[in-house]
Amino acid sequence: RREASGRPGHQLLTAMRTRIAPSMLAADFLHLEQSVDIVNRHADLFHLDIMDGVLVPNISFGFPVVEAIAGMAKKPLDAHLMIVHPERYVERCAECGIRMLSFHYEAARDPEPILGLIRSYKMKAGLAFNPDIPVEKIAPYLGECDFVLLMTVFAGFGGQKFIEESYDRLRQLKSIIDEKGYRCRIEVDGGVSPANAAKLVECGADTLVAGSAVFKAEDPGEVIRSMRVNLQ
Ligand code: DX5
Ligand code: ZN
Repeated sequence: RREASGRPGHQLLTAMRTRIAPSMLAADFLHLEQSVDIVNRHADLFHLDIMDGVLVPNISFGFPVVEAIAGMAKKPLDAHLMIVHPERYVERCAECGIRMLSFHYEAARDPEPILGLIRSYKMKAGLAFNPDIPVEKIAPYLGECDFVLLMTVFAGFGGQKFIEESYDRLRQLKSIIDEKGYRCRIEVDGGVSPANAAKLVECGADTLVAGSAVFKAEDPGEVIRSMRVNLQ
């Protein structure tokens, strides 16, 4: 980091390319191949939302679907575990070829060993947390995280409205990470669209998850492109 430039924020932004991670939860499951192809051609990561109906009041998909996607994916897989006892499935996720793996702070009494376990399988370890968890609670673990997943809606469903208070939480998170000099990326998830992408990046996000905005669109490739244009 060259602080001397007087624009440390700009330095960080250019050093870390912003990535778009479409959430496969919003894909057309009858034509999954087409949705995978969209990500392969236009986006950076596959965001895979795995829910157990216990930690969150919804059930999504499991390993058979993850494996089917993995078989066709040309971009890395980013799995978001919304399950209790996430440590039980870390090895299985590694076997599926997942590159980034996050689990919820709310699901772990002690997140540190789970972050370590994920890293021991050479995956990037991420801690996810809901909008009602104060950023201060996450702060002690940021040094152990490769990335953090800030929820901008309550985890459990796609298609929810972006929570506006998230910008402040994001700025707070970013300033802690910068202040401590941690190498921890920030992913945001929930209600992300071309309308708020640029502001989210400005506030410190470097990975944007978008489900409905991408897959419910007439032209998903165009939406991904327009999010990118916004980021310049
Ligand atoms: C919510 C999931 C999100 C969701 C995003 O629990 O973690 O990844 O699929 O979907 P949209 O972009 O529609 O809010
Ligand atoms: Zn998610």
